[in-house]
Order: sequence, then structure tokens, then C-alpha cells
Amino acid sequence: MPLREPRRVLVTGGAGFIGSNFVHYWCDRYPVDRVVVLDLLSYAGNRRTLEALEGQENFRFVQGDICDRTLVDALLKAENLDTIAHFAAESHVDRSILGPEAFVRTNVLGTSTLLEAFRQRWNKRGCPQSDRFLHISTDEVYGSLGPDDPPFTETTPYSPNSPYAASKAGSDHLVRAYRHTYGLPTLITNCSNNYGPYQFPEKLIPLICINILLGKSLPVYGDGQNVRDWLYVGDHCSALDVVLHKGTPGETYNIGGNTQIKNIDLVYTLCQLMDELAPNLPVHPSRDLITFVKDRPGHDRRYAIDASKIKTQLGWTPQESIQGSLRRTVKWYLTHRDWWEPLLSEEYQAYYRQVYA
Ligand code: NAD
Ligand code: TYD
Repeated sequence: MPLREPRRVLVTGGAGFIGSNFVHYWCDRYPVDRVVVLDLLSYAGNRRTLEALEGQENFRFVQGDICDRTLVDALLKAENLDTIAHFAAESHVDRSILGPEAFVRTNVLGTSTLLEAFRQRWNKRGCPQSDRFLHISTDEVYGSLGPDDPPFTETTPYSPNSPYAASKAGSDHLVRAYRHTYGLPTLITNCSNNYGPYQFPEKLIPLICINILLGKSLPVYGDGQNVRDWLYVGDHCSALDVVLHKGTPGETYNIGGNTQIKNIDLVYTLCQLMDELAPNLPVHPSRDLITFVKDRPGHDRRYAIDASKIKTQLGWTPQESIQGSLRRTVKWYLTHRDWWEPLLSEEYQAYYRQVYA
């Protein structure tokens, strides 16, 4: 463990996919730090993901809304927090198409509430330059690339296309403005698509794994030629660690896996892995389940991240190979049915019918 002053970290959205992976990573790596999770436990939040930490002295879970200013003020003060790692968000593009308002509320108003609470607390604490507000954002704010376009850099103009991406862009702009206007020690990261354990079943990789296990059709939007740049969630956590410790306040860092894959190729790979690893699948070979369905409205064609700034300035590169970590992820969904099965609730079935009907 590195020698350093203990930090007191508020992790918003710490019961979600990336937030929970980050909390496990952080508590493991920095056991002297205080970690307080603030999570509303929306449909995407799952307290069971953090149960191994419950009861540990330096960990606390608070169920609550980042839009609740009174609660956020009280937490920042009572816990004397010096760091915010802000993951909480509505995060699924398809849901943002069905209902954008929740995205504006949580992603824009929620971030604005946190920033204002943090600003006032930071002033009261005497404006320590070592405090940090780390805002976790997405590459989707940059819009869509053509097949031969160079990957997104930190200076690519924002051009968000979905309500999700637009709400994240709005939150990024607020963070930037708080740095520019008030000098807050903020950092922004824009990351590509993550995969790994504890991802909610609605996202592509868990959805395909789970549907194969249940013998359900595998919905591929449009022609399946859309490209995403995939990053293992553990690599995202190590990048955030590096940004928090070495990043320059006011800066933005792109984080990506340098692994561009067409959706249909990814689905084929997942089918192959499942066929190899899962005994007694309801349908074998599982690629027989692939079904091309109506495209997502406004579906971005391609994302790709140029992560050379974080590499050259902070020395971070992803450690995981896609082959190894996809295999591990597939195995995780195979062996953690008890984690994902309860999430296939009535509410989820209703959502599923709405999107895929
Ligand atoms: P997720 O949907 O799995 O988790 C979001 C968490 O936020 C949940 O635990 C939920 O309960 C909580 N939450 C929602 N509204 C809240 C509110 N009002 N107050 C408090 N908590 C609330 O999302 P994720 O995939 O873990 O993404 C985390 C962050 O990373 C998001 O900001 C997202 O934009 C960003 N991001 C995600 C990806 C990806 O591939 N998943 C890639 C780049 C960036
Ligand atoms: P997703 O995991 O929703 O992430 P994002 O939309 O943020 O990139 O989807 C990844 C890609 O997979 C995206 O191009 C949409 C596509 N997709 C499908 O083809 N079928 C599906 O059922 C889902 C959920 C996604």
C-alpha cells in the first residue's frame, strides 16, 4: 500500500456497476481511507454487491438521492469528506429514449446539487488544494464517429446524440464551469464502454450472457455493425485511481481500452465462450439465438477513445486483454446466477417488453 495521507471519500452511485467495482478496488487498496457510499438504490443499484464491506469500520452506506441538498450537506459535514468520486447517474441509453426527464434530473440537477454542496463545504474547509471532485463521464458526449475518423481526444467538440449523452454533457459542462469560476479542484474523465462483474442485465454483455443461459433470443440492433471501444471495469478503476492521485485539477482525461469491436462480432465471441464454458445450454450452438431487431433510434455508429493523454501524462494503460477479461466476465455471469436472477423483476420485464416488443 502506498504511503500517503488517508482520504475521506464520498462515492456516489457506489451500488451500481462501476461505482461498486470502484468501492471494492478502493477499500482493498487504501484500507486506511474512509469510504462513504451515497446511492439512491434505483433499479440499477444493488446493496448486495457491497455486502462484503458492510460492518467494516471504514465503510458506510447511505441510501439517498444526490438531488437532496440537505442530505448531501449533512454528509459532507458529518464525515468531513475531502474527495467526491461521482458515479451516480441514470446510465442506459435505451431508457433515456423512453423517458429523458429522469436523466436530466439525476445527471444534470444531481451533479449541480453535489457541486454546489461541495463548493460551500470546500470554502468552509479553507479551500484545500488537495481536495478532489472527480466527475466520471462517458465518451458518448463526443457523438458518433465515421469508419475512418480518428478516435475522440479531450479536445473533440461535444456533440451528444442521445438524451443520456446530452445529460452527461450538461453535467460535464457544469463541472468545468465550477472549476473555471470558483477554482474548485475538479477532474473529469470520459470513458468508453465498460464490462465486468456486477453490470445490470440491461446492458449488452450481461444481456447476451443471461439470454443465452435462459435460451432467449439475442437482440442485435440494426445491422450489428456499430462499433464500441471496450474496457474492463478493473482497468477503469485503476485509471480513476491514477487520475485522483496524479491528475491536474481542471483537466479532462479520456479513458479507453483501445479495443474497437463491432457489436455482432462481440456477440459471436460471447456465444463461443458460452458454448465452451456453460454445460447444458437450452440452445446449442447459442448463435442460433441471434436475432436482428429494429435499430435503436439515433443509434451512434462508432465510438473510439484516444487515451494517449492519460498514458503520456499520468502513465496509465489498460492491463487486461479483451480475450482474458471477457472470458472471466462470462464465467462470472455463469457462476453468479444468484446475483442477477433477482434483478429480472416485473419492472425489468416490463422495460424489456417496451424496448424489444
Ligand atoms: P449504473 O446504472 O450501473 O449505476 C448507477 C448508480 O447510481 C446506481 O447504483 C443507482 O442506484 C445510482 N443512482 C441513480 N440515481 C441516483 C440518485 N439520484 N442519487 C444517488 N444515486 C443514484 O451505472 P454505471 O454503468 O455504473 O455508470 C456509472 C457512471 O459511469 C455513470 O456516471 C456513467 O455515465 C459513467 N460511465 C459508464 C460507462 C459504462 O460503460 N457503463 C462508461 C463510461 C462512463
Ligand atoms: P449498451 O451496452 O447499451 O451501451 P451503449 O449504448 O452505452 O454503447 O450497448 C452497446 C452496443 O450494443 C450499442 O451499440 C447498442 C448495442 N445493443 C444491441 O445491439 N442490442 C441490445 O439489446 C443492447 C442492450 C445493445
